[in-house]
Formats: sequence, structure tokens, C-alpha cells
Amino acid sequence: MKILVRLGDLFNAEKLIPIKSAHVSGVSYKTLGDAPIEFLKALADSGARVHVRTTLNPQSLDHEYLEKRLPNRLCEKQLEILEQYERMGLAQSLTCTPYYLQKPERGSHVAWAESSAVVYANSVLGTFTNREGGPSALAAGIIGKTPEYGIHKAEDRQPNVLVNVKAKLRNKTEYGALGIYLGKALRDRIPAVSGLHDPSKERLKQFGAALATTGMTNMFHLKPPKEKTETINIDDKDVKQTITDLSTAATKKPDLVFIGCPHCSQNEMKQIGRLIGNRKVKPATELWVCTSAYVKEKCDTSVKRIEQSGGHVLTGVCTVVSWTETLGIKTIMTNSAKTAYYAPTLNKAEAILAPLKECLKTALKG
Ligand code: F3S
Repeated sequence: MKILVRLGDLFNAEKLIPIKSAHVSGVSYKTLGDAPIEFLKALADSGARVHVRTTLNPQSLDHEYLEKRLPNRLCEKQLEILEQYERMGLAQSLTCTPYYLQKPERGSHVAWAESSAVVYANSVLGTFTNREGGPSALAAGIIGKTPEYGIHKAEDRQPNVLVNVKAKLRNKTEYGALGIYLGKALRDRIPAVSGLHDPSKERLKQFGAALATTGMTNMFHLKPPKEKTETINIDDKDVKQTITDLSTAATKKPDLVFIGCPHCSQNEMKQIGRLIGNRKVKPATELWVCTSAYVKEKCDTSVKRIEQSGGHVLTGVCTVVSWTETLGIKTIMTNSAKTAYYAPTLNKAEAILAPLKECLKTALKG
């Protein structure tokens, strides 16, 4: 309660409002380190339990594939974190796309921490959430409430800049590149984006994830603003240059081809399975497809195809929050602009950013 009240005071909130769910980031031991484990343990020891459905972001490993390849010490620490969350009643969803497990109602209020999910919830699902930190999302889950400020208030959700996309965006990678470019330009302003010709939900997921990577914008609109505002124009060259800048690798041969940032939907799993067909992964290359255990269970045929090709469907984890450096991975190819942005710092790896088809062409023989 102290965390929520302090947060509310900082942003001049007048009251706490009830929430339908919380989503907690700060799960992976790689990004957390040791200090928060004591905090989580003390909280669980004191009897804290969540009072609304509260889900968890990805951890640093999966039990089927990565656990065997990583030092025991790291795996045990990761397990310790999950145990504390379990004691407090959090769902072991371990995904950054909790909306595929249970879609929040349009117009409902939630307290979510994962930035890509925050933008998706506000902009695509019409749910109301600020971008929480891990501790404030956990506090909100325990109390079942969050301070009413920011984009919980309808008047603060209005667009205040028009983004006119003149570039022709052909795939999710280009939607992601647009997000990286715009995140920097917008900082925390809310854009109305016009000129997107085929904005499927998965393309918007990539756009929003990237937007939140380089800026503090927590939602976008696809309808024009009612009042006249500043306009930012986006040309083909802006998107192309962003992809070039994010592709830091000198080599064209990655150690790892990674799809699934944010975690794949059922549609995406099917598309990957179809594109792989009967082809096999090249020697000395790894193919990882990351999703939630929930989505994996629903995609039997696609999972079989990916695994028969020599690829791996990993659940509850992603490349960015796992110890790829310890696994000897130096170059990561991905269709996700967010992963390409983080690879040099969080994975100490070079990145190659390319559309899905090109990623699979690189990973597979034939
Ligand atoms: Fe999700 Fe990891 Fe990307 S948590 S949004 S797959 S960096």
C-alpha cells in the first residue's frame, strides 16, 4: 500500500481505482540480479498474496532446452525468484503477451509492467494501463488497485501529435523499425498515426513494442486527432535507415536466428510452421521460436514442424533476457526491431534485423 500511495502522490492522483489484473516484469534473474530476491522473499514471508489475476513476464531460461546448457547456479537463482512469486499466488504465465492467455475487457483498468504489453493493451485492446514498474505492478496485484493518474484518465489519452506515414511498410520488421524511429522522436507524446495500409494486430504489436523501447509513449491511435497538432512525416528512407542502423553485424552468418519478440501468437506460430515446411536448420545455426506455454500447447502441428526442422520452440523465455553470451552466441538475427535494439547491450551480441522470410531463409537449408 505504501508503494501505491507514494506513486499516487508523485503523480497527484486523488484516489486508487480497482483493477481487473496485474502483470509483473522483473522475473528474469539475468536482469534482476540478487538484491530483489530478498525483497520478494520478505514480502512472501509477510503473507502477501495477490488479490486479482497477476501474471509474470518471461524468465531467463526454459526447462526443456536452455536449463541443461546453463550453469546450475544461475538456474537455481532463477527458480528461487519463481518460488517467491508462486508463494504470493502469481500465475506462472512467463510471457510478455499475457493478452493471448486472457484478453482484458475493453475499457477495463489493469496495472501492467511489460512495456510492449502496455502499448498493445491501451492501443489495440482499448484497456487502460500506465507503464508500471515491476514493484508497483506487484503491489497493485496484491492490493487489487492502482493510483488513478496518467492514461487511466480518459482526458489524458488524447493524441497530441499526428504521425503521417508516407513510407510503404511491407512487413512486421518495418513496423518495428517505424516504432524505434518514432519512439525517439515522440518521447512521451501520444501519436495519431495515419497512412498505415495493412495494420494487422501482429504488425501493431511489433510497432508498439518498438515504440516503447526507445521512448515513454504508452499508446497510439489510428484515428486522426480532433484538434490540429504538430505533424511528423515518415518517409521510406527513415525506416530503411533505422533497419540499417540496427543491423550492427558485419557477418551475414548468425549463430542464432530468433523469432518471437514479443512472444508469438497462434497465427504467427502457424505462419512459421508453414514457411519452414520440410526444410532443416543449417549446421552451426540455431533457430529459436519463443512463445508462452499456453500458445505452444495450442499449436501442435506448427510446433512439430519447427522441431522436426531442428529448431526449438522455447516457452517462458526470450533471447533478450536469457544468457546468450554464456551460450557462446555472438550474432543474433531477428525479425524484431526491439531485440535488434537490445542485442548489443543486453546480449553483448551483434544484430541482423530482417523480415521473417529472410530470417528463415538464413536459418534453413534449401
Ligand atoms: Fe518479450 Fe523478451 Fe521481447 S520479454 S517483448 S520477447 S524482449
